[in-house]
Amino acid sequence: MTTNDNHIYVIFGASGDLTKRKLVPAIYSLFVQKLLPEKFILLGSSRTHFSSDEFRDKMKSAIEEFKEIEDDSRIDEFVKKIFYTPITFDDAASYKNLKETLTKFRSDYNMGGNTIFYLSTPPSLYGTIPKNLAAVGLNKQDDGWKRLIIEKPFGYDLESAIKLKDQLLQDWTEKQIFRIDHYLGKETVQNLLVTRFSNGIFEPLWNRNYINHIEITSAEQIGVEKRGGYYESSGALRDMVQNHLLQVVGLTAMESPSSLEPSAIRNEILKVFQSLRPIKKEQVKEVAIRGQYVSSKIKGEYIPGYREEEGVKKDSMTETYAALKFYIDNWRWGGVPFYIRTGKRLPTRVTEVVIHFKETPHFLFSQNEIDQANNQLIIRIQPNEGILLKFGMKTPGAGFDVQNVNMDFLYSDLSNQRIPSAYERLLFDTMKGDSTLFARTEEVLEAWKFLTPVLESWHNGNNIPLFGYPAGTWGPENADDLVEGKNIWRCASKNLANDGVYCEL
Ligand code: BG6
Repeated sequence: MTTNDNHIYVIFGASGDLTKRKLVPAIYSLFVQKLLPEKFILLGSSRTHFSSDEFRDKMKSAIEEFKEIEDDSRIDEFVKKIFYTPITFDDAASYKNLKETLTKFRSDYNMGGNTIFYLSTPPSLYGTIPKNLAAVGLNKQDDGWKRLIIEKPFGYDLESAIKLKDQLLQDWTEKQIFRIDHYLGKETVQNLLVTRFSNGIFEPLWNRNYINHIEITSAEQIGVEKRGGYYESSGALRDMVQNHLLQVVGLTAMESPSSLEPSAIRNEILKVFQSLRPIKKEQVKEVAIRGQYVSSKIKGEYIPGYREEEGVKKDSMTETYAALKFYIDNWRWGGVPFYIRTGKRLPTRVTEVVIHFKETPHFLFSQNEIDQANNQLIIRIQPNEGILLKFGMKTPGAGFDVQNVNMDFLYSDLSNQRIPSAYERLLFDTMKGDSTLFARTEEVLEAWKFLTPVLESWHNGNNIPLFGYPAGTWGPENADDLVEGKNIWRCASKNLANDGVYCEL
């Protein structure tokens, strides 16, 4: 499918890392697949002064280095569509120049007014840029659509998120605003919907009657790298849970939408968020665990602790690990605990949703200790995207011994279909005006509302410990105590998974 709407794609903050690593390579992939409209201009804009030729050269090298598609034979043809204009973000006059530049392109290329403005800038500019664009009429849709794309963080807490919403909605409509959550662009995250609602076998079991608990893990092997400055004002809860992980919870727990219309799907996700049982301040210590990685040695190599990273305070209390236990108070999920956790410098990179089914009502057969696990359906979001079902089978030989076996489907087995990157999918959707995979204001606010007691308690201290965990381990052991009964996290130091694939150290 192509988008036939000719348009200009403006990227603010075009001299930054995201533009060169993700955005421009993703647009190049769309170009190679002939998914761009006949008339298309990519206009980079940021404070730095470059000529269009200089910027084009930079983007050419960026595509060569970060391209996500095999074919590099069309880079020269593609970069002809790229231009650059500098801008001073807080100077209203600068936007007049921008408007003139856009008008000139339109007349030179005989194009209408369709325009996308992608804010790949610090969030502090999310109020300023849209306001200044509107001041010169670049939000008006009389000559073609105008869309605004923003990246998380959407606010720092509930109060600032409401302020940002009010600022944006003064001049732009909700339909014009696309809030990128790159997790929603991941094929396997979208596949959650397809797995659940295109198969008759899962949905009847997908509720409190058959599911014991649900575990969602997003583990990263890397530390904060060069982003210490940003991360200090964020931490794992704001960086990963408020957005990515709660969206995954939404897709895992939602009811079947009435159609594939963006509003139908987003309404169902919103209902999940509205049903999250509020966490009381006095419960925070029991249901939310925070941790920070400390230095360690991995295979003889010294790995610095978080407080030794560039841009991080020596006495920082920022969490690099967060685990939560919570409930969704509705008919489907009443009483089913949800456990989610994320952390940096864990032993491996893995994001997965694990549906832990209830035990059989009666145990007939003997099982060895390792295999006493209940049935699990594991939806692997990354890496090795796919689905794994664990169930019991008879051990060959005498008697009726049971062992767990895996039924494993790997996305890569789907012939040689290329999996588009999250940005490729999402940027294409912005061109088509399809907002299904973007977070709506109400979702963002509900997510902040849910996390506020934890954010505030952690911020105020409230005698809530910040546990250290050695880099390269599965986070603080205290997070194991969150999980009720005899259950444990699928991947945890105490429980190396016996399928030997995802939890290997
Ligand atoms: C980003 C966070 O949104 O997601 C990063 O800011 C994190 O801190 C990244 O590393 C993880 O994304 P992915 O796609 O690698 O799981």
